[in-house]
Formats: sequence, C-alpha cells, structure tokens
Amino acid sequence: MKSTEVRARFLNFFKERGHAILPSASLVPQNDPSVLFNTAGMQPLVPYLLGEKHPLGTRLANIQKCVRTGDIDEIGDNTHATFFEMMGNWSLGDYFKKDTIQWSFELLTDKEIGFGLDAQRLYVTCFEGNDDAPKDTESAEIWKNIFEKAGVTGERIYFMPAKNNWWSAGDNGPCGPDTEMFYDLTGSHTSGMTKEEYLLADDKQEIVEIWNDVFMEYIKKDGVVVGKLASQNVDTGSGFERVTAVLQGKNNIFDTDIFEAVMREVGKITDNLKSQRIISDHMRTAVFMIADGVVPSNTDQGYILRRLIRRAVFNTTSRTLTQPPVEAIVHALFETYGSVYENLIPQKEKIVSEIVKEAEKFAKTIERGLRALKQVLGGIKSGMSVTEEEANEDRINPIRNRINGKELFFFFTTFGLPPELFLEIIDVDRKNAETEFNIYNREKVLTEFKEEFSKHQDLSRAGSEQKFKGGLAGTGEVETRYHTATHLLHQALRDVLGDTVQQKGSNITAERLRFDFAYGEKMTDEQKKKVEEIVNKKIQAKLPVQKIVLSKADAEKTGALHFFGDKYGDEVSVYFIGDSLETAYSKEFCGGPHVSNLSELGHFKISKEEAVSAGVRRIKAILE
Ligand code: SER
Repeated sequence: MKSTEVRARFLNFFKERGHAILPSASLVPQNDPSVLFNTAGMQPLVPYLLGEKHPLGTRLANIQKCVRTGDIDEIGDNTHATFFEMMGNWSLGDYFKKDTIQWSFELLTDKEIGFGLDAQRLYVTCFEGNDDAPKDTESAEIWKNIFEKAGVTGERIYFMPAKNNWWSAGDNGPCGPDTEMFYDLTGSHTSGMTKEEYLLADDKQEIVEIWNDVFMEYIKKDGVVVGKLASQNVDTGSGFERVTAVLQGKNNIFDTDIFEAVMREVGKITDNLKSQRIISDHMRTAVFMIADGVVPSNTDQGYILRRLIRRAVFNTTSRTLTQPPVEAIVHALFETYGSVYENLIPQKEKIVSEIVKEAEKFAKTIERGLRALKQVLGGIKSGMSVTEEEANEDRINPIRNRINGKELFFFFTTFGLPPELFLEIIDVDRKNAETEFNIYNREKVLTEFKEEFSKHQDLSRAGSEQKFKGGLAGTGEVETRYHTATHLLHQALRDVLGDTVQQKGSNITAERLRFDFAYGEKMTDEQKKKVEEIVNKKIQAKLPVQKIVLSKADAEKTGALHFFGDKYGDEVSVYFIGDSLETAYSKEFCGGPHVSNLSELGHFKISKEEAVSAGVRRIKAILE
C-alpha cells in the first residue's frame, strides 16, 4: 500500500464516521512556550481536551507534523526520525472506549477500507490500575469481544503499569490510561503469546507499537493526577511512517516510499547508507521547520535547525552542500509532500536559501578550523622525520605532546569543527605523510580526544533546549565537584526510583548541577529526601573516586552505567566511587574530571525537581 493511500484511508475512515478533518497545526506551538516543537498530535488540541469548545465539533481527526529531537544521535538506525507525522482521532466528550477501540481494530484490519493487517498478528495492552485510576477491564473486555467476533484466537491482551499505559504530554494537563496496539513484524507470532513471550518479543523488537488510544478523562497538576476532567475525551495516535513501513513490509522507515525520492537525491552526495539516512531525515525536518517560520540561529528552535543542517552537511562526502544538491533534495521532498502541505512549494526559494546560507557558514567554520589545525600539524612535522623509538625519547616528547586529545578538542570548541572531522584529518594525514605522523601514538591521541569529547558532552548534554555554547565552558574546581555529585545523584536515584532511571542529560555550572533522567512521575518529597540522604551519607563516608581504563567490552562487563550508545571509543574510562571496582557504589563510563575523594563535596541538596517533557524529569541540586 502506497503511503498516499495510508494517508487517504486514515482520513477518509474517520471522515465517514463524523469527524471533522483538521489541517496539521504549525510545528512551532503557538501558545505553549514550554516546548519548542509539537511532539504529539494532541498538543495543539490541549485547550479543547481541557473543555474549550472546538469550532468544528466534538469529533476531530488529522495528521499532525511533529518533531522530537531527544534522539538526534540515534538517527540513521531503523526507527528514529526527528520529524514524523502522527495520525490521530479525537473525541471531545463524544464517543469513548467502545467506538474508539472498535474503529482502531477496523481501520487496522479491514482490507477494503482499512490497512488490511493480519488480526492474528495484533497484540494489545491495557492499564493495570493504580491509586489514580482503576484497572481498565472495560477496554480489555472490548478487545476480548472484538477478537472473539473476528475469530482471532490465543492470548493477546496484557495489563501493564502506568509506566507503559498511562499517557500525558507533560506534567500538567489532560491525561489518562491508554490501550496500545502492537503488530508482529516477523509473522511468527500468530497464535497468541503469554505475557512473558510478549515482553520478550517487544524487547527483541519483533513487535512494534502501531497505535495508541488514550482515554483522557483525568488531569495532572505538577506531575500529580489531581482529578477528572469535565468530559471523557479520546486522543489516539498512530505514527504514519511506522504504519507505512509495516504495511510495505519494511523493517525501517527509510525503505518506504515516503523516503524514496529524497533518498534517491541524497544517494548522489554520499554512498554511505547511514549518512544517506541522516541527511534525508535532517533535510526533511529542516524543510518543514523553515516552512513553519524557523530560521537557523543560536537559540531555541533556530539552534535545533542549525544543528540539523550542519549535521546533514557533515554527512555528505564532500562536506559541503551547495545550491544544486539542496535544490534537488528540496524538490524531491516536494514530490512527496508538496501536495499534502500547501505552505511548502510557495516557500521554495526561502527554504533553499536558508539551508544553503547555513551550509556556507558551516563551510567557513570548517575551513578556519582546518587552517589552524594544519598550522599546528605543519609546525610539528617540520624536522620530524624520526622513528618511533626516537619519538619515544624524551627530547622529542615536548613537541610530540603538542598533538593530543586536549589540543584537538580545543580546535573543536574554538572552531566548531565536529570531532569526526578531526579524526578523519588525522587518518588522511597519516596515510599521506607516511612518516611524520606515524610517530604519534594514534590510538592514544584518539582516545584522549574521545575522553575529552565525552567529558564535555556529558557536561553539555542538555536535550533539545541546550544553547549553542551551553556546557562547553571550562571545567573548574567547582564544576568538577558537581560532576562527581552528578554520578552520586544518578546512582541514588536508581536506588530510590528503580533501575529504569536513565540519564538523559546533564549540565553543570559553577552554581549548580542539572540532571535530566527518564522517569514517568513527579518525585514525592519523601523520595527527594531519601535521595539527598543517600548522597550525603556517601559523602560523609569519604569514599574515594577512582578511574580505570578498560576495553569497551570489559568496561561493559563491570556493569558501569553508560547510556550514550556508540559515542565511546574502543577504550573507555570508568569512574567508580568506592574502595574497589567490585564494591563500588557508583560506576559510570565517563571522561572525568572528578574529585579524588567525596569528602571534597560538602552538603548535597536538591533545589528543584520538575518535568522536561513526557517521561523525562529534571533535578537541579547544589553543594553547600
Ligand atoms: N498522545 C498520544 C501519543 O502521542 C496518542 O496520540 O502517543
């Protein structure tokens, strides 16, 4: 089924069931300064879910443009995209669970008017209940009847906790339990699964979520469910790209016809598949952002756009994006989207020129950095035709030491050169020069660079709102203390809230630490107190902070925390807090720096705990 057909069938299905079809709202939220971009289809509809009367009635459906940049570094794999479209239907106090679920099933499985998916490969989850709301036996019962009537056999309905089956866009606003639909990609789970088998299949990504029906009848304030809304609403969401991939039998969105035209053009500027995907994704997002009024800058939406364009440029083989390929790519995107979104084609010139302008700026940045780096390399090379043995002698060392990870990192921060480019220059230089550069211990320089990089990345990682120069400020004594405190906090949070807590970002200044982590609910006062107590107890115990450098595989075996995917080199340093690695209280992959003993930290205090986005909390803390 073509993606245009997916689009048409979705909208038509709900139109025929009395829904007004809304155009997609702008990517940039109009009245909500708390988020940079719409991250879910329901976001523009929040006022109506809260009770405001919608001019088009109580049944709405649309396909909404969304942007999520939290996973920007994952782009290039099978499932992640910075831009996506969410198909959704809404009931504003109109129909509720029975119709919603019935329609989801019909649209997914009907061959004539729907997507024609195999109902025997469908699995669903329902909310298991907690203090906020009862177990959703009603939805489960509806599913049971639907499956029975359709002759679909086997166990396929599971109850799950709030972590999985409670949806809200943030800490405040409408929310509720949901029922989620999953599809078996493999075709091997057709006769039902036990809950354990289902969880395993989910873990192995053999099944994917294809639709989420949220029953929004509750309201949250500051992360706590405080009561019921005036009416029982429905908010459903189904990822357009994902559903299309499933329907086209693809295991990734880039192989669908949605990306066909843009991948064709991008294929002309790089042979590397991962790069092709990154460029396609980023250019698609950039085009939509510019059409919605965003221009590259150093702050907020503009900064995200800048980063996307620069990453796209960097992923081309020539490290440049000039007018002709940009125009070709934009045209290709118009082939796919021009007739769907009316604001694209009329803004063609602006879109192309903003991208080209930003690409040129980036090219200048790269050029300046390269010149400076070459000077350093050149200076070192003159008179340096020496052997490895000689290079290891003391007299060579002062010069040799000039090229080290720190120096490369300096060029990165000063000239904005991506670290990957430095690595490549070193590579090329080494091949061409044959002699001079070989005297350097390449692995060592690269490891140093990566250490330096990950250290600063750790400090500056701050999610989508991170400002351009953000956390790249120098690491003084105070920051070092906060950095160590961050590790302690991380482990203490896991002790109190469970191992699902995962670092999502960290930012340190001389005044405070800021730590973002995955967790679905607001922390209670008691939990915060507990975390503070644990951290302070460790500080009082005056535990040493130590570092060990290991191969990545060995480092992983230590059980040290690491959440940033592939960004570590083959050798990593693990910082651990305690007398030995085995007995350590905290273990983390990290480039440092850290204090050498916790006694240097002082008294730890949480000053704030708040939401950053759905499922991500932020703690600010100080050392007194
Ligand atoms: N808001 C829910 C989601 O994004 C359903 O639309 O999954």
